[in-house]
Amino acid sequence: MIASAPGQIFLFGEHAVVYSQPALAAPIDLRTRVKSESRDDMRVLVDSEGVGKLEGVVRGKGGQWTIEKKSGDVRELEHVVKAVESTFSHLGDGGGLELEILSDIPVGSGLGSSSAVTTATIAATSAVMGEVLDGEDVSELAFSAEKAVQGPASRTGVSVATQGGFARIQGREMENLEELPPLDIVIGYTGIYGSTAETVRRVKQLRESNPMITNPILETIGAITQAGIQAVKEGDFKKVGALMNANQNLLEGLRVSSEDLDRLITAARGSGALGAKLTGGGGGGSMIALSESDPQGIVEAIKEVGGQPIATEIGVEGLKVE
Ligand code: MEV
Repeated sequence: MIASAPGQIFLFGEHAVVYSQPALAAPIDLRTRVKSESRDDMRVLVDSEGVGKLEGVVRGKGGQWTIEKKSGDVRELEHVVKAVESTFSHLGDGGGLELEILSDIPVGSGLGSSSAVTTATIAATSAVMGEVLDGEDVSELAFSAEKAVQGPASRTGVSVATQGGFARIQGREMENLEELPPLDIVIGYTGIYGSTAETVRRVKQLRESNPMITNPILETIGAITQAGIQAVKEGDFKKVGALMNANQNLLEGLRVSSEDLDRLITAARGSGALGAKLTGGGGGGSMIALSESDPQGIVEAIKEVGGQPIATEIGVEGLKVE
């Protein structure tokens, strides 16, 4: 069986969405593919190209299924392990399994590689066990697996990876916004690994140590997201760009941007972008810029300051099982 899921960008609202504020996100045409095959023994073998390899033994006890005696790249493949364990526990059954993972999405790029691999692993694992889970079940299992690795998390990544299309996410609610006009977005990857678990922890600590400043920042990001959705609907791209810039300023206030991201963002703005901001967890990873017309100038500017422009389609299909 092969399952695949897309990466994603946040147009607005990352981090604030963890605290029940709305976010606007969309899948991109970079996908993670997971091929699954069953085995006669109780061993699990994972081979993820460019990420690592892992071996372990499946064990079921009291309705909970775990992968034990793990060896290899355990930390790098934590999402995959949690995804398999939660799928087996949900199905109340487990068995030997071989997973081969191929991804277009660089790990730590802020483009949703963890949500894509978690979602596709759950779909590929359940399919090989002869069970076709619906999107909601996959998304729910993926959310619990992601939380187990990341700590506090929103449902954005797994919902977008499962459902596809532009989505407004708030808490448990996901609204598909199919009527949105196309946007010319340029993605710039810093090439630096950004740890979402780390930046999410940073915001959590900031919120605990300084709630009087942090909570209003999160609420304002929520208000910007709401205004941004309205501006996208109206096709007022100048306003969308200005709101992206405002969102970035507040993300800087939450200390989740980085020098590399700031350099790419400044370059994009200086070469005609209507707005630019980091996307996803930050602390490295990627930024996005909104282009008014031909994005070539922005693409060149990002390259000139050491970034890697990524050309991709936005608003594509979600989870697919073949
Ligand atoms: C990371 O892709 C997005 C964050 O908002 C975390 C989350 O939504 O779980 C930073």
